[in-house]
Amino acid sequence: DAVSGFDINKKLLRPIDCCPLSKNGPESHFKFPDKSSKTRIRYPLHKLPVGYLDKYMDAIQKMKDLPDSDPRSFNNQAKVHCAYCNGSYTQNGQELQIHNSWLFFPFHRWYLYFYERILGDLIGDSTFGLPYWNWDNPEGMTIPHFFVEKQCNNYKFENGENPLYDKYRDESHLRYELVDLDYSGRNRDLCYDQKEINLATMNRQMMRNAFDATSFFGGKYVAGDEPIPRGDNVVGSVEAGCHTAVHRWVGNPDPKGNKEDMGNFYSAGYDPLFYVHHSNVDRMWTLWKQMGGKEPTDTDWENASYVFYDEKQNPVRVYNKQSVDLSNLKYEYHSSATPWTDRPP
Ligand code: C2O
Repeated sequence: DAVSGFDINKKLLRPIDCCPLSKNGPESHFKFPDKSSKTRIRYPLHKLPVGYLDKYMDAIQKMKDLPDSDPRSFNNQAKVHCAYCNGSYTQNGQELQIHNSWLFFPFHRWYLYFYERILGDLIGDSTFGLPYWNWDNPEGMTIPHFFVEKQCNNYKFENGENPLYDKYRDESHLRYELVDLDYSGRNRDLCYDQKEINLATMNRQMMRNAFDATSFFGGKYVAGDEPIPRGDNVVGSVEAGCHTAVHRWVGNPDPKGNKEDMGNFYSAGYDPLFYVHHSNVDRMWTLWKQMGGKEPTDTDWENASYVFYDEKQNPVRVYNKQSVDLSNLKYEYHSSATPWTDRPP
């Protein structure tokens, strides 16, 4: 249906039973990482430092090797997304949906925060930063090629299987195609300069149409509200725009399926691209803030909370208000040019 995003009459390629494992003991309140700990750097995928790709692949492979009795496993991490988007939770009698509203940015920030720490922990590197797919920069506008092949001959993993590969993607977009940040389900003809369209799209969604907290983050959504979409709600400019376009552009368009993996909430987390895509989405929040943007000040926003499993498999409750300052969370984005700032929309 419109809220959860999948059509139950079509083939479902992933499980829709998304409930998280029952808790390992009582949930604890979140503590910021130690002030003295090293800041994790999130690098753009097209400019990873030497050796970083190996680390990243290793970490994903280790996550895939975990049993599903472990909340850090690849499948359980994927299910987190499904659980918060496809009606696994209710609140005051209403299904919870964290998309299409002001919960979108903070929820995904927390999701990646724990995912990144889990990956780092699995490879014994407490400075590991999740890379970002830099689709707003002309140099990063294709799917990074190392996600594409199923087998990598030179690779050390079992049967040469590439841990970053996912079988449910749009085949026609995998090999050096420029992403369409304004994609709405149909490929354009070639009479356009896709790079320029993308820069104009970014300018529109980050600047012209993102002029206050509501237009950027999305509209108010609180306990007891019907799950969004409702006709009257504002969806944030980036969420509704390039964020969703990239999901649809990557997902498998086969009309018999449900646009798995990336094109649907319930399945998106099964594609490793999901997390590097959202790393760049999260970066948009920090860029918008650097341009003078401010988070919502409503206490309903500040006190909204979620529970995630951390890298030690313990459930932790986190609040929106704890998510606004990256220097407390101890990660940052390696800078990359933003040529869209001076492209007219
Ligand atoms: Cu939770 Cu990109 O969606």
